[in-house]
Amino acid sequence: MMPSNSSFVMRLAEAAGNVETTLQALLSDEVRPGEIARPARLMEAMRHAVLAGGKRLRPFLTIETARLLGAKGRGALLAGGAVELLHCYSLVHDDLPSMDDDDLRRGRPTVHRAFDEATAILVGDALQTLAFEILASPEVDADPAIRSELVLGLARASGLGGMVGGQMLDLAAEGRYGVANLAEGDVRRLQMMKTGAILTFSVEAGAILGHADAGVRRNLVAYGRALGAAFQVADDILDRESSAEALGKRTGKDQEKGKATLVDLLGMEGARRECARLVDEANAALVSFGARADVLRDAVRFVVERQV
Ligand code: IPE
Ligand code: IPE
Ligand code: MG
Ligand code: MG
Ligand code: MG
Repeated sequence: MMPSNSSFVMRLAEAAGNVETTLQALLSDEVRPGEIARPARLMEAMRHAVLAGGKRLRPFLTIETARLLGAKGRGALLAGGAVELLHCYSLVHDDLPSMDDDDLRRGRPTVHRAFDEATAILVGDALQTLAFEILASPEVDADPAIRSELVLGLARASGLGGMVGGQMLDLAAEGRYGVANLAEGDVRRLQMMKTGAILTFSVEAGAILGHADAGVRRNLVAYGRALGAAFQVADDILDRESSAEALGKRTGKDQEKGKATLVDLLGMEGARRECARLVDEANAALVSFGARADVLRDAVRFVVERQV
């Protein structure tokens, strides 16, 4: 995948394995405390949405940021797992016929294709609430103040002023609700909301678990923002240049839908330069951590160099 940095790829794969095990446990047939029952069809569809696939980049960022700050225990793995559940919900709904209308995700049929649309809507709903349930549970951290900060952060990142709001702006950017005509700043804000906010929170969750002071947290959030912005520019480049076989999802769809992206506004070379600029910006935010933050430097490089 990225021969220039195979030790990073191995570290990402190792974290992904631990995340997979955690997610499997959260999505087993066994009811969690307070649940009345876990309907078999919903469980099967939730497992289809979440298990076996995905880079697991968001939990990786939570785990590595917490580790950088010396946080001990399973909290980061669980919190990262919660963010991944939220992310998977966003993908299931993003793929719905009324949204991006996609048939392929992570190399497999989307949930509404493998099951049906109503089930896919409920899968998203259930993944979202499960994510918040996990973050609020004492397994993540014994301190209720930490848990409540995590819940607050994920709510802000994923809701109205974050991912969901960004998805609304994204649909409008296709011209569905009238001529869109987005300027560069509008596209940047839309992308910061639909994608950047949750990636930023993935980093911030590690900072919260690691009891970062205000200055450290500010730097980590600045890193997360730059990484998040770079991530969506890279996604737009891949949508233009890659293939469904390589990516596991349909490509060419932004152009087909007339969606304004930075690739349109800056051109392909401009978009690549923008990625490089954002990598520099992310790295600049890590200066105070020295070599201990090398894994986070590798992560942002991975984000712009990835082929999946
Ligand atoms: C895809 O996210 C959706 C966007 C936010 C652009 P990822 O590229 O992280 O998808 P997975 O989780 O690896 O499948
Ligand atoms: C999706 O953006 C962002 C969210 C899921 C919130 P895209 O629509 O570009 O993602 P892909 O390309 O389908 O993965
Ligand atoms: Mg979309
Ligand atoms: Mg999509
Ligand atoms: Mg895309």
